[in-house]
Formats: sequence, C-alpha cells, structure tokens
Amino acid sequence: MKPCLIICCFLLQVKLSPAQNTSLAPTPPMGWMSWNFFADNINEKDLKEMADAMVSSGMAKAGYNYIFIDDGWQGGRDNKNNMIADPVKFPSGIKALAKYMHDRGLKLGIYSDAAQLTCAGYTASLGFEEQDAKTFAGWDIDYLKYDYCHAPIDVETAKTRYKKMADALRNSGRDIALGICEWGPRKPWLWAASVGGQLWRTTYDIRDKWKNLSSNENAEGILDILDINAELHQYSGIGKWNDADMLVAGLYGKKGPSGDLGGIGCTDLEYQSQFSLWAIMNSPLYATNDLRNMNEATKIILLNEEVIALNQDALGKQAIRKINDSIWNVFVKPLANGDVTVAILNRSDMLQKFEIIFSQLGLMDKYEIRDLWLHKNIGKGKKWNGNVLAHETKVFRLKKI
Ligand code: GAL
Repeated sequence: MKPCLIICCFLLQVKLSPAQNTSLAPTPPMGWMSWNFFADNINEKDLKEMADAMVSSGMAKAGYNYIFIDDGWQGGRDNKNNMIADPVKFPSGIKALAKYMHDRGLKLGIYSDAAQLTCAGYTASLGFEEQDAKTFAGWDIDYLKYDYCHAPIDVETAKTRYKKMADALRNSGRDIALGICEWGPRKPWLWAASVGGQLWRTTYDIRDKWKNLSSNENAEGILDILDINAELHQYSGIGKWNDADMLVAGLYGKKGPSGDLGGIGCTDLEYQSQFSLWAIMNSPLYATNDLRNMNEATKIILLNEEVIALNQDALGKQAIRKINDSIWNVFVKPLANGDVTVAILNRSDMLQKFEIIFSQLGLMDKYEIRDLWLHKNIGKGKKWNGNVLAHETKVFRLKKI
C-alpha cells in the first residue's frame, strides 16, 4: 500500500469511530487484579508487595504491567464530593500508590460502578462521572474497571452510563483505558467499543473450577466461559477486546469470590489450559493469585513467554474455534509474521488420541511444528498426531516451510 493511502485509511478510521481509542490498549492488558485473592480486604501494603513480586518473579519482564485495584478501596466522598480512598487501607493515598507503580515501570488500574454503589456496597460514580474521572486522572490512574451492579437491566441505560464515563475519562486530561464490566447480558460486544470502551467482560465472574456442575448461570468455570467467549471472535480486534475474566492459576480452591459457587479449584493442567485458551482468544491476562507465594507450576504457566506472545501478537486476531465437538476443540489463530497457532483442547475426562490434518483447518502448506509448552520443535509436515491428556490444551506454532 502507498504511504498516502495508508495515512488516508488511518484518518478515515479515526473519523469513523471517534469514540474508540485503540492506542489505550493496543494489545490485551496484562497484570494482576486484586479481587479473587483479597476480595475487598485490600490495602496499599499488600498491593505494593504484589507489584514487587510481579517484578522479582519476572512477570513484569514477561509483559504483565498493571496492578488493578478492584472493589473495596473507596472511603466515600469528602465535603466537596470528591471520592476518597479508605484512609485505613490506603494511608498514603492512591496518588502515592500510582507513583510507586510508575517508578517500577508498572501502571495502576482502579475500579468503580455505573450506579450509586458498587457490587460490594462501596461508593460508586453515577452522577459524578466527570468529577471522578478528574479525580482518577489527578491520581495518575491508567485504567478504570467500570462495573454494573445496582444499575437497571436495559441495554440503553447501560450504553448511556458507559458512554458518560468514557467521555468523562476522555476529557479528564489523562489517558485512562476503560474496561466495561456488565458481564454479558446486554451483549456489550455489539456496542462497548462504540461508546468508548477498550474491553468488555463477556461473562459472569469466573469461579475456580473446570466447569459448572450446577444450574446457576452465575457459577461459571473455565469451560463455560470458553464456550461463550470463543463464539465472539468477530467482535475482538486491536484496541477492543473480549474480556473472559481473570486467570485462576494458583488459587487452588482458595476461599473467596472465586471459591464461591462450587469453586473447588483446578489441576495445574487445567490452569495451564485456561492460560493457553485465554491467551489465544486475546483476553486480557489478569493473574489474581498470591504472586508473593507462587509454586513452580504456577510460575511455569504465567511465565510462558511463547504463549504470551500469541496473546500480545500485533495482528490482534482472536483464535477461531474450527472444531467443536464433545471431545475436541481445535482453534486457529493467525499471527503477524505469517505463522499460525493451532491449539487442541481435549474436553473429555480421559486421555485421547488425535490426528489433525492441517488442510482440514484451511492450512494448506507444510509446516515446522513447535510445541509451546514443551518449548521445542517437534516435527515437520502437514499433520500432527499424538495423545492429549484429559483437559489438556496443546498449543502449536506452525511456521510455513
Ligand atoms: C463483580 C465483578 C468482579 C468484581 C466484583 C467486585 O461484578 O464482575 O470482577 O469486580 O464485582 O465487587
């Protein structure tokens, strides 16, 4: 393409979608979110320790750069209606915490809700959108997770309330990314980018389990969320991501939000599968375990830089689920350098043998096959066959030869 044509296309795109700022989340955000480990029992000491652990564990170097404060930081409003942080939990204030993060090359996310109260019952932003956005900007916040508890169920109100906050953030004087969190009932993939969000949750909260064994739709595990999010690939793209909620690796059934509703914990292989699947679906990668006390298995999962590279790939294409039956899910995700990811999930409860001929997936060439969990090239050709353990996801990177 000629340079002038590229510039024109770029300008046209900016003109067509003024509400959407793709530069705020050009790749899916990565970091650590406080909710599933601490619920609302958060404080500045623990969050600083998590940031330190994110750096010392090598996670920051691998691309995790956000600490996301979830619900529970709020201490109400002052006599000018400015939001304040709970002075006992955050004695130095949020601005000092943001400085702590920025000094370490990290960013800070915060949380509010499009109603008068948040999900956990703290002060929220309805009616104070501009004032709160300016407060967040004044604290040097980089990201806002904006929840939807206590708000009306209709979609039009949701669009209006999210747009109000998106506009307020845009006018706040600081670049602050917006994560929309209404859990999916109002199909945010159809409107969240156009009202100004960079990502949107597609499901209810993930619980620390492989799959939901109850009839409660609020009790979703890894497979349930996968089945919703995988079908939404067409809505995801650069700067606008389907958010499949937090990674549960390393929680092991800990009591707390992810342990509720049957969240009894998963095996490390299941946590590894979640990580692989979330990575190829271009979901944000938010760890939520105790980074200060991680075992080797959890580190191996969260620090797999070859899998992270798929998530952060510049082409920004969410994997497409090409095969979906009761045993096998096979995903294909094209990459910026021309390589292709093929991921194979065994959904059944037994080891199974599998053969995949790449042309069945529309991949017509001969390839060098690299296994991104073994970290080695395992063969060359037009097909792969082998064993896949129960609940395992094989992740291959294919290079045309
Ligand atoms: C939920 C949200 C969770 C967490 C929680 C805080 O609505 O989905 O991720 O933010 O609220 O109260």
